[in-house]
Amino acid sequence: MSTTRLALLASAVLVLAACSSGADAPSSRDSARILAADTEPGSWPTHGRTYSEQRYSPLTQIDSTSVGRLGLAWSYELKTGRGQQATPLVVDGVMYVTSAWSLVYALDAATGAERWVFDPKVDRAVGAKACCDVVNRGVAFWEGKVFVGAIDGRLFALDAASGKMLWETVTVDQSKPYTITGAPRAANGLVYIGNGGAELGVRGYVSAYDANTGTLVWRFYTVPGDPAKGPDQAASDPIMAKASATWNGQWWAIGGGGTVWDAIVYDPDFKQLIVGVGNGSPWNQQHRSPGGGDNLFLASIVALDAATGAYRWHYQTTPGETWDYTATQPIILADLQIDGKTRKVAMQAPKNGFFYVVDRENGRLISAKPFVPMSQALDTPQGTPISWAYAIDPVTGRPLENPEARYRGKPALVRPGPSGAHNWHPMSYSPQTGLVYLPAQDMAFGYAHDAANEIRDGFDNIGLVIDPLPDDEAVRAAIRSASKGMLLAWDPVAQREVWRSDRRGPVNGGTLVTAGGLVFQGTGDGQFLALDAKTGKMVWSADNQAATLAGPITYSIAGAQYVAVTAGYGGAFFLIDSFLGPAEGNPLNGRVYVFKLGGTAAKPVINFRKTPVPRPPAITVSAGEYIRGAQLYERNCTVCHGVAALSGGVLPDLRRSILIQDAVAFRRVVVDGERAPLGMPRFGKYVSAADAELIRAYVARQAKTAYDAERQMNAAATK
Ligand code: HEC
Repeated sequence: MSTTRLALLASAVLVLAACSSGADAPSSRDSARILAADTEPGSWPTHGRTYSEQRYSPLTQIDSTSVGRLGLAWSYELKTGRGQQATPLVVDGVMYVTSAWSLVYALDAATGAERWVFDPKVDRAVGAKACCDVVNRGVAFWEGKVFVGAIDGRLFALDAASGKMLWETVTVDQSKPYTITGAPRAANGLVYIGNGGAELGVRGYVSAYDANTGTLVWRFYTVPGDPAKGPDQAASDPIMAKASATWNGQWWAIGGGGTVWDAIVYDPDFKQLIVGVGNGSPWNQQHRSPGGGDNLFLASIVALDAATGAYRWHYQTTPGETWDYTATQPIILADLQIDGKTRKVAMQAPKNGFFYVVDRENGRLISAKPFVPMSQALDTPQGTPISWAYAIDPVTGRPLENPEARYRGKPALVRPGPSGAHNWHPMSYSPQTGLVYLPAQDMAFGYAHDAANEIRDGFDNIGLVIDPLPDDEAVRAAIRSASKGMLLAWDPVAQREVWRSDRRGPVNGGTLVTAGGLVFQGTGDGQFLALDAKTGKMVWSADNQAATLAGPITYSIAGAQYVAVTAGYGGAFFLIDSFLGPAEGNPLNGRVYVFKLGGTAAKPVINFRKTPVPRPPAITVSAGEYIRGAQLYERNCTVCHGVAALSGGVLPDLRRSILIQDAVAFRRVVVDGERAPLGMPRFGKYVSAADAELIRAYVARQAKTAYDAERQMNAAATK
């Protein structure tokens, strides 16, 4: 550790020591306030309401008897389309919420009146680095300041009253494909932030900054770096020898992964920071760490000393991760009664499909059970997906795997897939019912080793062959119907499902649970629901007119309880899937919807424009060239423009683009990067002009199918 860093650390420790000894010291005031959040149940001062991140509210005005009178109090149109994933905060009657492109909005929480808007003015070219859309999941509040991480890796402190910028600092090497989508957390005068980027290729870490000055206080790398470069001069240095011993090959070449892109939880009981660590980079372990190894700290829950960043303990959910099984999913802290004893636990339902209860004191596994179907490969019927593992050994804490799922010799259809059995959508825990409300999904994925593994600067480098989905709509429909979404009420002590509520599409929203005995959840098809927390019976719903995926919150002002949630199409799933999106090449700004008893505000009128598919150009290619075009499209374009060129409606629907009419215009955009400043990457290095022409032919064929279908429909309608 360098002397300056040491000096910084020492002063930070001194500041902290001063704070904990004097109740008036400024930095302790907000910690105390958040710690005592239950004495002001009307606020929502930190990401999960309290440091426990239970997303449980003691408010009771809205309950199963009154919920029928819940109506819209106000709505607010955010200034961007694309995915909206933010959990708002409410402090002293003001709501602080973010939108895509990392804008921050301060709104009067009772009326929705705009106080200020902060736009970090992110260069739109950065959008090309975002694996899963340019989303943002919220702010942290501390001592009259609001903190936001921007998609380009900057961290900002704003004056909560005026929105004026107090400081900004760059938290990443901006020449690399790092992004920030997660909400910072603040405790004891420090602001914590991680980052994403492991699909393209980066090395993960979490950092702590001084809330007043923006100075880096400590950084913890989650995976080892290039051994030739020596120690990082970081808080992680002492543990890195242990981590390195679990890796092989030249993992550092593209970074190794392990990004901390969502769960960052401050645990006041042990004054530690518990973070969820992401997937490997590349996903495919055969390329990342040939010969295997656990690859610490990928896919792990890691506890660090909150003041110094020193390693405390870890629990690895997926040793030797090779499926994009992040353990970044939201972590909830609770005191559970287990075998007659009170245990201080951390709970997580990561992508890999097991629900983990871990002892917060030492990181030891207490229990783990699958929350989606998991079985041994030999019990799995032919042609159906196999699960990567079927149980967690309670003694060793390690998974019992189905070796076939590692797609070493041949491809494997595996559940869960990279979308996970649970993703970033927040779960909640009610101490009243003792249940966790978990937005789960059951989606399989075909993993196939890519022997070539060409590393492409600025693009996804996952080490897998992505085959185009079949053109046949019936086959696609079958795959779709095998993808399920459900809300699970999970008993974390008994580790069993108590009830479930099925959803129409696989990807749905985060949850909020209240002392009024209600669970709130948005859905991928635009509904916002209230369910009885004990039984799962649906007791109320509203139409939010757009995918409602973020974590809802509740607060109260002047005796009235409000429920708020953000809505908007976008995010990884809605970029590629046209099933539930607006699907007409029709980006719509997101919205904040806020409800209260007797609310009578009018639902905003949204004009879904229907743009017809123009007559596509006739491009003659051979059958082989058509297939090649489909493969090129799938490899390069799907993640933003949608599976089989059917846009989710957020980014341009290429079937409707006039650019497919003209080879030169198409090439200028795709190969030469004419729209790179707007986030449409320049493919020149990897897609030749001839390749672009095959992609154009493929898109034109897809457009023809849609064009003919529309004409048939119109003809039928006029008959
Ligand atoms: C990282 C996301 C991303 C990827 C990957 C991507 N695009 Fe785009 N593309 C965009 C964005 C964003 C725009 C909109 C730019 C703008 O505002 O004009 C766009 C616009 C376009 C347009 C212009 C559409 C119009 O009518 O305005 C074409 C054509 C296009 N993309 C083709 C492709 C092709 C072909 C591929 C694959 C080789 C591809 N894109 C891959 C993000 C992406």
